[in-house]
Amino acid sequence: MASLLVDGIGVLVTNGPGDGVVTDAALVVDDGVVVWAGERRGAPDGAEERVDAGGRAVVPGFVDSHAHLVFAGDRAEEFAARMQGRPYSAGGIRTTVAATRAASDDELAGNVRRLAEEAARAGTTTIECKSGYGLTVEDEVRSLRVARGFTEEGTFLGAHVVPPEYAGRADEYVDLVRGPMLEACAPYARWIDVFCERGAFDGEQTRAILEAGIAKGLVPRVHAGQLGEGPGVRIAVELGAASADHVTHLTDADVDALASSETVATLLPGAEFSTRSPYPDARRLLDAGVTVALASDCNPGSSYTTNMPFCMALGVREMRMTPDEALRAATVGGARALRRPDLGHLTPGARADFVLLDAPSPIHLAYRPGVPLVSRVWQAGREVR
Ligand code: NIG
Ligand code: FE
Repeated sequence: MASLLVDGIGVLVTNGPGDGVVTDAALVVDDGVVVWAGERRGAPDGAEERVDAGGRAVVPGFVDSHAHLVFAGDRAEEFAARMQGRPYSAGGIRTTVAATRAASDDELAGNVRRLAEEAARAGTTTIECKSGYGLTVEDEVRSLRVARGFTEEGTFLGAHVVPPEYAGRADEYVDLVRGPMLEACAPYARWIDVFCERGAFDGEQTRAILEAGIAKGLVPRVHAGQLGEGPGVRIAVELGAASADHVTHLTDADVDALASSETVATLLPGAEFSTRSPYPDARRLLDAGVTVALASDCNPGSSYTTNMPFCMALGVREMRMTPDEALRAATVGGARALRRPDLGHLTPGARADFVLLDAPSPIHLAYRPGVPLVSRVWQAGREVR
């Protein structure tokens, strides 16, 4: 791959040492990797290609560490009813499970492709992808196989809800998930996740499933505290989960546990937006020293968006994050939540995932909500849009 010099960058966010920002900057990429970043007058010569940023801002590609892209159908009517006052419940997941089971592999892959491309157009260069709308051994395996065509970050979420055919037999379903379903799915996934919530899986079930996953070589992440306080965060920290996600409802003990752990708090404000619920308090977490990520939670029920700048704008407007904190959470925060030290920053050695904004400053990402400011996107040094 030809080497590339991006010159004339007004503001370059590297997320490197110091404040992680260089003005009047340049970036050099070779073989898909960042080899140099700094003030433009120090840039080495000799790159085969050159791009002029024209004084605009360059930021790391967004790392969306929480998405549910493998599904069929949508739930627009459910959203419309919710906006007229019907509350959100996890029960809607079963509607999507029925549609997903009825879809062909090609339909599922086509849907993931459409969403992955939509995300890339908005600057996402890495996206995690969960199963969880199949909920049979066969449908979970094919969900993960489909996901694997688009990302290395596949997550087995057989424990999303108890499917209708197991109604009243939750413990039998848990045995299926931690037994044959896990056995069949583990080769296609890196992560294991459980929706730990009233109406989904309780603490004991969550722990049993995650421990079985760990024994199979998967690393845990947990849906915790989305609809109410619960044991999910404590279990996530105890089991060394990479991330506890949603974390809208937290006790002080949960915040302390996160602060003294390696577990990232992944905030998903698209879900609060689309369910008209109170937002998580990012400030409380940041002030306690917790590592925070922002992700889309893209799914057809609670958050049907792939747009990371929108999530950043919500973080700033609704969750007391500074624009700078929101950008870090959407880049290096997501990379930490996926345990990917090669992503989320633009210092030498990083994968060359970066976005040229149609704006002079990254503050514009939150300052100009809904405006498509993502002008050009590179993934591993290759322009993808
Ligand atoms: O993260 N919380 C569980 N899963 C999704 C919602 C899925 C759905 O409503 O279809 C979430 O919000
Ligand atoms: Fe989710």
